Amino acid sequence: MKPEAAVPADSPFLSVKDVHAYYGESYIVQGVTFEVPYGQILALLGRNGAGKTSTLRTIARLDNPTVHQGEIWLDGQPIHGMKAFEAARSGIQLVPEDRRIIQGLSVEENLALAQVAPGAGWDLDRIYGHFPRLAERRRQEGTTLSGGEQQMLAIARALARDLKLLLLDEPYEGLAPVIVQEIETILHEIKELGITTIIVEQNAIAALKLADRAVILDTGEVAFSGSAREVLDNAELRQEYLAI
Ligand SMILES: Nc1ncnc2c1ncn2[C@@H]1O[C@H](COP(=O)(O)OP(=O)(O)OP(=O)(O)O)[C@@H](O)[C@H]1O
Ligand SMILES: [Mg+2]
Repeated sequence: MKPEAAVPADSPFLSVKDVHAYYGESYIVQGVTFEVPYGQILALLGRNGAGKTSTLRTIARLDNPTVHQGEIWLDGQPIHGMKAFEAARSGIQLVPEDRRIIQGLSVEENLALAQVAPGAGWDLDRIYGHFPRLAERRRQEGTTLSGGEQQMLAIARALARDLKLLLLDEPYEGLAPVIVQEIETILHEIKELGITTIIVEQNAIAALKLADRAVILDTGEVAFSGSAREVLDNAELRQEYLAI
């Protein structure tokens, strides 16, 4: 009997293949291709308006932008024909820039609402173990949390769901450096747990330090794809596409 071929450690978990997406007539995601191996973190970078949020929204299968061409595969499953709720059920969790904490609900109620499929995601004890600030504020209304605490709640909510691919859109935005450090610690913990992640961040250096791989978008196209280290080491590349 032939031994089963071992899955190579860097075989793609997420594949985005020549994806073209539009907001109505506006052609925004212009043939984007990249892969993320299982358990790795990809930093998705680029100037304002480069198409980072649109690419995340496309992967999460939100109604807009709409995919006109290309394929998206997660863990051997085609995603490109799915609706947002189906993609979420398949384990794709987007933490959008505005965090979307539900008004009128406590921290704990926000988390409980995310646990629609019991047993699929983290239970409350595990969440509070990783997010002591949320544990202290479990009865507080979610929308009255500080910006950093709301970001923690938004990430915790993704962990409470069935999570295979975490999509983070500017998790450090508007946060003081000390809070950014706290979120970074949490993201390092998530990385150690082997959760495949895409992070979009204006703070490119912070994202690159966390990430294994990097993709730089420029007007909806991939301008660079390689290791995060290559971008950190290449001042010319950073200057040209990230202005840092
Ligand atoms: N709903 C929409 N309808 C039409 N065009 C849109 C829509 N949302 C975004 N765009 C356009 O798509 C392009 C890419 O926007 P996107 O938000 O993906 O960029 P981004 O890289 O996330 O930028 P930023 O760093 O500013 O967040 C921009 O030119 C933007 O104006
Ligand atoms: Mg954006």
